[in-house]
Amino acid sequence: MEISIAIDGPSGSGKSTTARRVAQRLNIYYIDTGAMYRAVALLSMRKNIDLEDKDEISRLSKETNIEFGQITGEDSQKVFLNNEEVTDLIRTNEVDEIVSEVASIPEVREIMLNKQRELARKSGVVMEGRDIGSRVLPGADLKIYLTASLNTRARRRFRELKEKGKQIDFAKVKDNIRLRDEQDKSRSHSPLVRPDDAIEIKTDDFGPNKVVEKIIELIKKEV
Ligand code: C5P
Repeated sequence: MEISIAIDGPSGSGKSTTARRVAQRLNIYYIDTGAMYRAVALLSMRKNIDLEDKDEISRLSKETNIEFGQITGEDSQKVFLNNEEVTDLIRTNEVDEIVSEVASIPEVREIMLNKQRELARKSGVVMEGRDIGSRVLPGADLKIYLTASLNTRARRRFRELKEKGKQIDFAKVKDNIRLRDEQDKSRSHSPLVRPDDAIEIKTDDFGPNKVVEKIIELIKKEV
């Protein structure tokens, strides 16, 4: 049985950097499940599908092939949608604005769930998202729940967008994060929750290195 580590938490809590580095340390796969929902959102946007047309979005997600590249150094993991590299295209403000709605469609979630479980069956994984410990991998060897205040999380996302040269104001970034949190926590199908057996780590005052060290320590102790 391969090792599986589940990392959940709201937007901007530090999941991606942490999960990627833990996967590198353990030399196992890193799966960013948010990128999968983002890819479906990007495709729906490109095809001008009305967000109300849930059947069409579900149909589209069935045909969507999402693949992840190898991680090298500190670079973000490359994401491929039907063989096209979309790593940056899935992280725009436009995708931020519709992704939670796309991710709230139960049929889309079922399709992604199957893809995610399939990936975890094939190899050891560090999988990050919103429902990994609670639904995708309920038997994960270790469950981590990362949190930080809304302000901290909005500042991180704002910095990330600015570094990519995006012109956007802080209030808008903060509003989007608040709205996505609300949507992700209140949807009826696999909402964002902290699983009872997850270990919570608050990341406001810690850089990613400290968080990674703490998780590696927990793995040594508990797995
Ligand atoms: O993690 P990231 O912010 O990239 O995720 C984008 C969106 O995808 C989240 O706001 C959430 O709506 C959705 N998502 C989800 N379940 C996951 C991962 C992401 O619903 N496991």
